[in-house]
Amino acid sequence: MKIVFELNNKSVEMDVPPLARLLDVLRCELKLTATKEGCGEGECGSCSVLVDGDVVNACLLPIVQVSGRRVETLESLAAADGALSALQETMLTADGAQCGICTPGMIMAGTAYLRCLERDCHAPSAEDARRAIAGNLCRCTGYSKIIDAILLAAQIPTQEGFRHE
Ligand code: FES
Ligand code: FES
Repeated sequence: MKIVFELNNKSVEMDVPPLARLLDVLRCELKLTATKEGCGEGECGSCSVLVDGDVVNACLLPIVQVSGRRVETLESLAAADGALSALQETMLTADGAQCGICTPGMIMAGTAYLRCLERDCHAPSAEDARRAIAGNLCRCTGYSKIIDAILLAAQIPTQEGFRHE
């Protein structure tokens, strides 16, 4: 089936089985391997991507459901010159990543939260940041450093070269 959608700001047209998982299409067909598979059952959030700005589990989503929609993966966050997004940067500086399997999904969920703060002019809070990553499991960090990274990123003015977009 022919599927057309926007992926990381570019239009993509593919001939794929309509029930192929978005995760498999990203990793195997398009070679975008930043999105990880953990449980494969919608429980861990390792495969989180953004669809029309909302966090979704790519392991559960048939590709047909992204037809005509906007998909973003971790690969879209760094600038063409390699500059990291605010949250990518603070995940490094706050030691928010250890083994790394959860990290791409955490960053996508955190990015959705940061955009929400910007869009709606909300003040960041640890409680809200925790809620934003509630669907993402981490076995290594105890979550505190990831929350720290999100709150630090929320303090970085976008004009300093870092982006939440
Ligand atoms: S791999 Fe998709 S939620 Fe775990
Ligand atoms: S850093 Fe290992 S699961 Fe989160």
